[in-house]
Amino acid sequence: MITEIIPTPKKTSYFQREYIYNGETVRTSLDILLGEEEYILEITFEDGITIIGGSERAVYYGECTLEQIIKQTNGRLPAMKIEDEPKFAYRGFMIDCSRHFFSVDELKAIIDTMSRLKFNKFHWHLSDDQGFRMEIRALPKLHTEGSVRKGSNFGSVRSKSKYSGYYTREQMKEIVKFCSEHYVDVVPELDIPGHCSAIVHAYPEISCRGRKVAVKTTQGIFKDILCAGNEKTYEYIYKILDEMCAIFPSDTFHIGGDEVPTENWTHCSECKNMMRENRLETYDELQAFMMNKVITYLERKGKKVICWNDAVKGDNLKKTVIVQRWLDRKNQTVEWANEGRKVLMSDFYHTYFDYPYEMTPLKKVYKFRPYLSNMDLRGRENVIGMECCLWTEHISSNSHLEYMLFPRACAVAENSWGYGRSNWRSFLKKVNNFKYVFRQNRIHFAPRRDWNPLPLRRLFGTLKFLYKIKPRVKEN
Ligand code: ACM
Ligand code: ZN
Repeated sequence: MITEIIPTPKKTSYFQREYIYNGETVRTSLDILLGEEEYILEITFEDGITIIGGSERAVYYGECTLEQIIKQTNGRLPAMKIEDEPKFAYRGFMIDCSRHFFSVDELKAIIDTMSRLKFNKFHWHLSDDQGFRMEIRALPKLHTEGSVRKGSNFGSVRSKSKYSGYYTREQMKEIVKFCSEHYVDVVPELDIPGHCSAIVHAYPEISCRGRKVAVKTTQGIFKDILCAGNEKTYEYIYKILDEMCAIFPSDTFHIGGDEVPTENWTHCSECKNMMRENRLETYDELQAFMMNKVITYLERKGKKVICWNDAVKGDNLKKTVIVQRWLDRKNQTVEWANEGRKVLMSDFYHTYFDYPYEMTPLKKVYKFRPYLSNMDLRGRENVIGMECCLWTEHISSNSHLEYMLFPRACAVAENSWGYGRSNWRSFLKKVNNFKYVFRQNRIHFAPRRDWNPLPLRRLFGTLKFLYKIKPRVKEN
């Protein structure tokens, strides 16, 4: 029998005779000569089942593979050997908990499912214009006031009710622990200097105008960003990061940098002073200068830092930063990678799962390749992996989130593990076989009829979605 494992293993060999599995313990061991995420799973008639891994995580991946084999063979396992390791070191998923707040248990069901698809990074988007979601004891107004908005006016999500929620330190640690038990690293994001209305609401003194603004109830790009010229801004950012570092052991942090309107900087004497003192000529350079200070702060604490590709506007952004490419700047991304910068691929048109299946069908996600044309060998080596993103302005509930994520995440699992990208029919079988995990975790995955809508439905679905996201409420 041919097994259908997702993500497709690097190498599978079959032998004669089957092995009947009766629930006995599987023999596992570590071999430091194997790669960090590499494992060998052997099933033989004579010796039963063994998994050898380069690390505990690799053994876990072997166990995930074995479980899929057991489920689809009903325990009559073919004698076989799987030698497996991923092509990409970073296999991530991002969940925006600012626009929509998900409970710890809701997140756990998703994390467990994703880990069994061998994702290894949970990028946790915890701050944005519509709510700040971390308990920060040194700056308590961030969570007591910055987590509350007066309503929700996003596309089809419309409510006049107060919306609030934040994760306590204990809850964040619980997620970190759960992730570590599933061999997933948490990459927490503090999005600066834009998308900071909730921070400015709590502490207006670190914005250029010093005025209190509302925690936003609509989506958009808002101009009250953090002041880049005020030392207090950095003092506050460092306080937040200090607390984050105490909670999140991950060696990688995200500091946003996307969609930064610099209009207020152009009217701010402190921002202008900062530019003069540091011989910065453009506001893009000022943004890069600001990011650099924060990157340096985190690097001194042993962290690697990711920024969205928007932050690479000024040529002065530190080269050590990992650039997460989501939109535009295709040619520049190729240049950055070819010249030695690390890049992470989250293409808006293929891996943004807040957009409906009519806009981003499963097959389109499956066809996505993380390498860009014109990337040379060095450029390709600098692609650290892929991440799918779930922004949640338009997400009405946890089951809606799960519907948007699954099974599209299965295609990202395939592409980021890297070996199963040319056999669509086999991929569909794999997704089908994986449904037992969805059921175990009570995941509301999208039904098959929705995965690849026909052209007319795609057109109408797209128009309907785009019409709904037009803002109908004006915000200051
Ligand atoms: C983004 O989607 N604003 C990174
Ligand atoms: Zn300023």
